[in-house]
Amino acid sequence: MTILPDFGLMIDTHYRHKIRPIMTSALISLFQLPEHGDGTLRERVCGTLRRAIHGGTLSRGQRLPSSRVLAEDLGVSRVTAEAAYSQLEAEGYLQRRVGQGTFVAIDIVKSPPGTKATGEPRLSSRGRLIVQTGGCRDPQQPLPFAAGSPDLRAFPLKLWKQLTAQQLRLRGETLMRYGDPQGYLPLREAIAGYVSQARGVNCDAQQVMVLTSSQQALQLIAALLLDSGDKVWMEEPGYAGARNAFTSAGAELVPVSVDEAGMRPHEQLPRPQLIYLTPSHHYPTGVALSLARRLELLALAQRQRAWIVEDDYDSEFHYDGQPMPAMQGLDRQGNVLYLGTFSKTLFPSLRLAYLVVPPALVEPFTTARTVYDGHSAQLMQAVTAEFIQQGHFAAHLRYMRQLYRSRRDHLLQEVQEKLGHYATPQQAGGGLQLSVWLPPGQETALTRQAQQLGVVTPGLAAQYQRVQARRDGWLLGFAALTPGEIRTGVERLARIIPV
Ligand SMILES: Cc1ncc(COP(=O)(O)O)c(C=O)c1O
Repeated sequence: MTILPDFGLMIDTHYRHKIRPIMTSALISLFQLPEHGDGTLRERVCGTLRRAIHGGTLSRGQRLPSSRVLAEDLGVSRVTAEAAYSQLEAEGYLQRRVGQGTFVAIDIVKSPPGTKATGEPRLSSRGRLIVQTGGCRDPQQPLPFAAGSPDLRAFPLKLWKQLTAQQLRLRGETLMRYGDPQGYLPLREAIAGYVSQARGVNCDAQQVMVLTSSQQALQLIAALLLDSGDKVWMEEPGYAGARNAFTSAGAELVPVSVDEAGMRPHEQLPRPQLIYLTPSHHYPTGVALSLARRLELLALAQRQRAWIVEDDYDSEFHYDGQPMPAMQGLDRQGNVLYLGTFSKTLFPSLRLAYLVVPPALVEPFTTARTVYDGHSAQLMQAVTAEFIQQGHFAAHLRYMRQLYRSRRDHLLQEVQEKLGHYATPQQAGGGLQLSVWLPPGQETALTRQAQQLGVVTPGLAAQYQRVQARRDGWLLGFAALTPGEIRTGVERLARIIPV
């Protein structure tokens, strides 16, 4: 007689071969499944037993075969079976009792019959708002004409490496510690100096927050300044990254149309809690907000106690004359939050941007930063500070501005020559991309055809909130492309455009 512990019965060895397979055959089939064939034999045995426990084949208190029997059944060595049992004991799945055997030590909660995981994650209402935005993904490859990428082939990488090595040598240990949530002080000073001189921003280092991205700034702004149902005026068409941040906070967007002088406010619009603007180069058309409109919007913000978010994302790349100074410099009431990024001026994966806030908002933003992610990487902040302070940033911007201007001119010329009978480029003084308008109803089909030829043509229609306001067109990024690449890209587009 042998005790077959799986069943807790006294059974004659005669029956053993009939009973034993009930559990072991399930284990053997699990062990042999081709999708579980990776890893060492010990890992495979462990995986088989874990799956059997999770799947309900084995339940709490059940006794397992001896390691000798398991080894025989699965066709592995006894050492392997022993090692698997010991590992699963260490993980808490099994319990081994001297002289008694090996038992399943845990219960896996099973779903009541009829309930199946539906695949729909259980999200909070905030989570659902975030997911409903669809998010934004920036292009990871500089394909023609992916919008918004700077030319990284022209980046002074050797110098950057030297500065990185120097910072590690001089203050490596300090830079590995936790940092100031507001940002590394020398970088805040360098940014305050730069935006005051180059953009006319009225601030000191105490008002500068160093952040991971403009997107993080928008998210912080939404979290701290907007309640559910608050109205946010957005340029129409406008920047989806900002739309996403504000709608995620439950705000209601109010599309305000844009003409040659930028956002065009009017009497019928509901009172805004916040106005989001890209005054230097409106995103996506590139037009500049006129001085008259700037003053009108500042007065309106003061009257209606609204915040203005000035997203100055690529003002450094202005080609025709001087760019207008920042609106923040005209603000006397402390209503403007000024936002800039190094994603375009240095490189996108640096993940450094800056937000200049009115003095009263410094403390709330600093605290909020600690609630989110603490601070940005110290080493890259220190390298960027050095890059600015040693004058390399200004030199790099001068060089890149010239390079991009020549590429913008080249793209304009190519578009006019090869697509001009069909597509109309938007006049704009700067930026890293060119808006090109298409006849109504053409964008979707032409974009698909362009894609088949390896050309990415981000659409303009999707930049509008209101379907009825949509205009078809493309936003052609040119900054990262050589003249040859621009020419080839436009030639491909010319192939799909009606003659
Ligand atoms: C209007 C606008 N703001 C900001 C950014 C930069 O964003 P980030 O700093 O999050 O990389 C972009 C990038 O395309 C943009 O188009």
